[in-house]
Amino acid sequence: MRIKTIKKISNINNRVVLLRSDFNVPIEHGIIKNDFKISRALPTLNYLINNGAKVVILTHLGRPEQGKRARDLSTRPIADRLGKYLKKTIKHLDTCHGFAVDTAVNKMKPGQIIMLENIRFEPGETKNSKRLAKKLASIAKYYVNDAFGVSHRNHASLAAIKNYLPGFAGLVVAEEIKHLSRVLRPENPLISVIGGVKLAIKMPLIKKLSRISHRVLVGGALANDFLAAHGLEIGKSISDKKGIAIAKRIYNKKIILPLDAVVSSREKKWRVRVVSVNKVGKNDYIFDIGPQTIKLYSKFIKQAKTIFWNGPLGMFEDGRFKHGTLALAQVIAARSSGKAFGVAGGGETVAALQATKMFEHVDWVSTGGGAMLSFLTGAKMPGLKGLYVK
Ligand code: 3PG
Repeated sequence: MRIKTIKKISNINNRVVLLRSDFNVPIEHGIIKNDFKISRALPTLNYLINNGAKVVILTHLGRPEQGKRARDLSTRPIADRLGKYLKKTIKHLDTCHGFAVDTAVNKMKPGQIIMLENIRFEPGETKNSKRLAKKLASIAKYYVNDAFGVSHRNHASLAAIKNYLPGFAGLVVAEEIKHLSRVLRPENPLISVIGGVKLAIKMPLIKKLSRISHRVLVGGALANDFLAAHGLEIGKSISDKKGIAIAKRIYNKKIILPLDAVVSSREKKWRVRVVSVNKVGKNDYIFDIGPQTIKLYSKFIKQAKTIFWNGPLGMFEDGRFKHGTLALAQVIAARSSGKAFGVAGGGETVAALQATKMFEHVDWVSTGGGAMLSFLTGAKMPGLKGLYVK
């Protein structure tokens, strides 16, 4: 199925386009900490403004208490950062609809951009309110969804809105679909690397990937569930009954488990040790994969023609336990762009890749976390519904 992109809009000059973006970026004290999602969206914005559209941007930011305004979740810093990239003044409005929006939009000239306030300040957004969608749509001629990262949500600015405006996909969405589809129909062998904490969340993905991958290499706290399911001692490491039950159910021979672990315990004065997975003590916490595991996983990654990576392999935010994640990030990046087609995604995965400074070597770094998982497992994507060519 092909997606209908903005390039299919026949008459865009001087028309108002309501652009739903995912500019859900980390902001601390008004400072944007990582603007990957903003820079990724520039081709869509450049296409629209270069073709004379009047662009009104909508995004969510964080998860404000339903319908309540929160000053630290205003989209104003995003408008400023985007303006710097595009070398343009972007007008920021502190609402999403109503008189102020109508007046500002009526005054717009081709190529101008307005950014509306955080759409999650609207109580109707997360309820997929038709009333809200109708109000949002009233200012525009076309609707463009470029917010891949939130397209798994059944929200008004992603789903209901398409009842009121002809909908198209932005270039981020089109690229995400193109590259993630290459994981689903991979050049073989596909090697998948899955880390993270909650096995329950990653279960559908691991199930799907074990069908199409040559091997699924697991790490992070979710690997503890698999180790425990095999009867191994995991000490005080993160794990729960539910995770272990899932691990027992979904384990298959394609899933490769760590051979060794980086552990620490109060009893040993928090000294960091490397032990084989069958030597983990009752009081140990597993915090990272060990060197033997890095070696084994690297060997598999070096055989890949397609690589997919989601989730850290250990507690990489702590310098003592970052090595497994960063080492594999480097091997994945080095094998990508050339020898294999490499795809990575998820907030912490992106951060780990950025830390290795090898981000650019991975062929596609997804802007989606949950959305990427939904897309790859074939779950519903309300934001994409209706945007495919019939
Ligand atoms: C993300 O950061 O994963 C997306 O922007 C979706 O955000 P949400 O999980 O708050 O819907």
